Amino acid sequence: MKRWAVGLVGLGAVLVLGSAGCSDAGAGAGVAGSGTDTGTGGQTGTETTSSSETAADTETGDPADLPGEQPRPELQSPAEAEDLDPDPNAVRVSLTAAPLAFEIGGEMVQGWAYNGQVPGPTIRVKRGDTLTVEFHNGLDTDTTVHWHGLRVPFAMDGVTWQGQAVGPGQDFEYSFVVDQAGTYWYHPHVDTDRQVDLGLYGVIVAEDPADPVPDRELVVVFDSWNEFSFDSDDESDHHGLDGAVIEWTANGLIDPVFPAAAGERIRVRAVNVANAGYVALSWPQMRHIGGGQGVLSDLREPASVVLVPSDRMDGEWLVGDGFDVIGLPYSLLGAPAVDEERRLFEVEVDTPGPGPAPLDYPFDGAEPTPDPGWTDVLYVFHGDPHTGYWTINGELFPDVTIETMPLGEWGIVELRNVSQSAHPFHLHGHAFEVLSIDGVPPEVRRVEDTLDVAPYSIVRIGVLADNPGDWMAHCHILPHVDGGMMTVLRVE
Ligand code: C2O
Ligand code: CU
Repeated sequence: MKRWAVGLVGLGAVLVLGSAGCSDAGAGAGVAGSGTDTGTGGQTGTETTSSSETAADTETGDPADLPGEQPRPELQSPAEAEDLDPDPNAVRVSLTAAPLAFEIGGEMVQGWAYNGQVPGPTIRVKRGDTLTVEFHNGLDTDTTVHWHGLRVPFAMDGVTWQGQAVGPGQDFEYSFVVDQAGTYWYHPHVDTDRQVDLGLYGVIVAEDPADPVPDRELVVVFDSWNEFSFDSDDESDHHGLDGAVIEWTANGLIDPVFPAAAGERIRVRAVNVANAGYVALSWPQMRHIGGGQGVLSDLREPASVVLVPSDRMDGEWLVGDGFDVIGLPYSLLGAPAVDEERRLFEVEVDTPGPGPAPLDYPFDGAEPTPDPGWTDVLYVFHGDPHTGYWTINGELFPDVTIETMPLGEWGIVELRNVSQSAHPFHLHGHAFEVLSIDGVPPEVRRVEDTLDVAPYSIVRIGVLADNPGDWMAHCHILPHVDGGMMTVLRVE
């Protein structure tokens, strides 16, 4: 560990986190997986929870420092789940959560995984399909699967509020219609901070038959790692919240290479599954076409896109020449970021050429809905990095006041952050429209399921309460959920 750790620390500390308003929270560290060699993205590891005395202790150096000794791994989309249903409008997959030992940058992690790969298998559906997931819990503890961003019936939401966890060795069949398009993900909603950290996450791609067909697609999952992710044979203690983030991975790989050819049009689906880390993504030749809930109303070409924990970005990438995909310094405190840039991966183009013409995405040009000014539900975020308690309206989950929105009505939720740390607010069961951020409407109509609320800022969202249930509403910095920052929004 030693030599390697030094290399990492040298590279590390970059992208955000750690100390910011989240000190004990900040570290985040998700677990992502895979080795360095084989062909399928999201490679598999070995099914064991012991014996991590593998290589790496001595001969693995930082690949960036020792280019001759270790070839840079190649970035590929995670392997996809097999559709077991011949019906073209139904997708049936089998998903098992179980312990898995896997490598990150040559170090062993005693983690957990879906179907033996980290990230878990990508589940691909198209808008309107019925998705059925035969889930088996191969862990020795309770878990669930939550379908982040999908508007599923409450009983399928994978939460234990008024519901049951899936016990060790037990099965549960999730089934629902996916009436959305975009990029989503799945993860447990029991002991979420720890279970996601250990490696339980995967991507859901919901294709829109109205979208043009790109030459290729790249699904890329960003995750962060801290010192506790490694260096332990015991899965229960590598979940440490006090460690600074030392590394970021793309599909489980540190600084991999992605080969591309000039002229390719690649649909990029990027997901940030880190427990607490923000990714300020700088990606040249990239057009931002979709946010959390499918294609935006209009194209954006920002200098960078900030992916908060649980955020997704859909991009159209018009390949011309090679370049670095960079994580820019970012501060959760709303203060100037002091870190360095970090390369998340490198795009290699052997023969540069002109970028291709863009595809014709179905932007509808819709304007943002004007903010009507009233408020139906007010959530005030407060907390203290020193105590680790994080509250909504002064309350700690599960001792919360349940706010209600009438079924079928459109209402306004105001999010006020009076703490020093940013909080990415996530609502289950519904998408919402961003009405204003500190009084300013968004430049294009934005429909999201997670939205950052910067320190001391006020964000207003419009919610069409069309899905009955007791929906979790929480910060997606998972250590903050552990610290109490979750409540329930009832729609009835
Ligand atoms: Cu992505 Cu309540 O979670
Ligand atoms: Cu938070």
